[in-house]
Amino acid sequence: MDIDPTHVPTDNKAQVLRGCDFLAWSADTEERFDRVVGNPPYLSFRRLPPELREVALRVRQPDGERISGNANCWLAFLCSAVRLLRQGGALGFVLPAAWEYADYAQSLRNYFCKSFEDIEVHRCSRPLFELVQEGSIVLIGKGYLKSPLSFQRFLHTTPKALISALNGPSQRSPLGRNAVSKTKVSGNRQIRQLKEIMEIRLGGVTGDAGYFLLSEKQRREHRLPVTCLRPVLSKAQHLPGSELTSKAWLTLRDSGARVWLFRPPPSLLTHPHIAAYLILGKNRPAGHKVSRRTPWYQTPLPRSCDGFLSGMSSAGPWIALRVMPRLIATNTLYIIRFLKRYSLDERAAWALAMLTSEVRTQWQEVRRVYAAGLAKLEPGDLGRLLLPEPHRVSGARKVLGEATAALLDGNAARASEIADGWFRDRRRQNAVRA
Ligand SMILES: C[S@@+](CC[C@H](N)C(=O)[O-])C[C@H]1O[C@@H](n2cnc3c(N)ncnc32)[C@H](O)[C@@H]1O
Repeated sequence: MDIDPTHVPTDNKAQVLRGCDFLAWSADTEERFDRVVGNPPYLSFRRLPPELREVALRVRQPDGERISGNANCWLAFLCSAVRLLRQGGALGFVLPAAWEYADYAQSLRNYFCKSFEDIEVHRCSRPLFELVQEGSIVLIGKGYLKSPLSFQRFLHTTPKALISALNGPSQRSPLGRNAVSKTKVSGNRQIRQLKEIMEIRLGGVTGDAGYFLLSEKQRREHRLPVTCLRPVLSKAQHLPGSELTSKAWLTLRDSGARVWLFRPPPSLLTHPHIAAYLILGKNRPAGHKVSRRTPWYQTPLPRSCDGFLSGMSSAGPWIALRVMPRLIATNTLYIIRFLKRYSLDERAAWALAMLTSEVRTQWQEVRRVYAAGLAKLEPGDLGRLLLPEPHRVSGARKVLGEATAALLDGNAARASEIADGWFRDRRRQNAVRA
């Protein structure tokens, strides 16, 4: 079915209905199908003529929700196609890569995960079509309205490899010629974008690290009371493992690292040693960032902090949870804040999700590689990572400790094995709800 009345040579490959608006037709028809295959237009709703836009916006998502005005035509086509399926039916759609991360597709992604027995996402690292620069995926959902069983994600290097993988299960070897990587999540069907679960921000920008960051020895030399300082992490190497406890920080302090951030509260400015240190600061060649802020001696810091993440790491992104109160980080690290109040075990379960092979595959796809093999991840890239939702919580801290220790030991494969094992277990205790 195509709204375009012009015949094309490939029309002889099927029974083609031209000049028919699929969105209007699918809303009316009582027919239901075993298979629906589509290659919908990728056109933002904003660029549609008003009358077509109106039809597209009338389409409801399968869960009854309205489609956002920011969405794209493909979403309306996909929602309409799902409506046409019989129970047990299957659907195959060619979609833009945005299927995996667009906010406006979140609710349909969740619906898919709950409503199909098997889901396959085939992503190609090269464009599938000459005229479409954007990355594409092929989404396959089988067993409509049957119990969710598996979710697999394949990353193919070429369109040819993608097509041959679609041609038959025998060719779909996990790490064989066709797919450079494959992720399988069984028994766990809820996938969340990282930005739905946590916020990632840069740590504090001091503007003058030589002045604002102090070691314990320097603190004593200047006789500064601890009340004018915040315990701080200023290097990725300061992340000792899965948890930042007071004990871990004390070890860092005693090793001579710069672990204090000078940040006096207004009530202490007249304290003689603090006042003397402030004068020292005023006499330094004021950095641009320092002189611009008010008051200049207070490094702006995120309101709250649940953990730390290194944006530049050869080990890949991993989260160290903050256990020590008041501990904060400078901008060599990212600070994470969970958007809901989670227990420490719940936080650990989400941190474990970061270490699953599923997430590490995505990271390898999006990272920007710098000198010496260092890979940098921007908060936006991180926010789009798709995390499996943990279905159990109890004991997650211990497992996270083991997985993180393996990662820091250089054994990333073992770290993922431990994390995957945690997610494979189908026992559902204390489900963490996002
Ligand atoms: C990406 S092309 C796919 C073309 C062809 N089906 C294929 O796979 O080669 C998208 C097609 O959707 C058609 N189209 C756009 N809006 C439509 C609508 N409301 N109903 C049916 N077809 C539509 C366009 O004419 C265009 O041919």
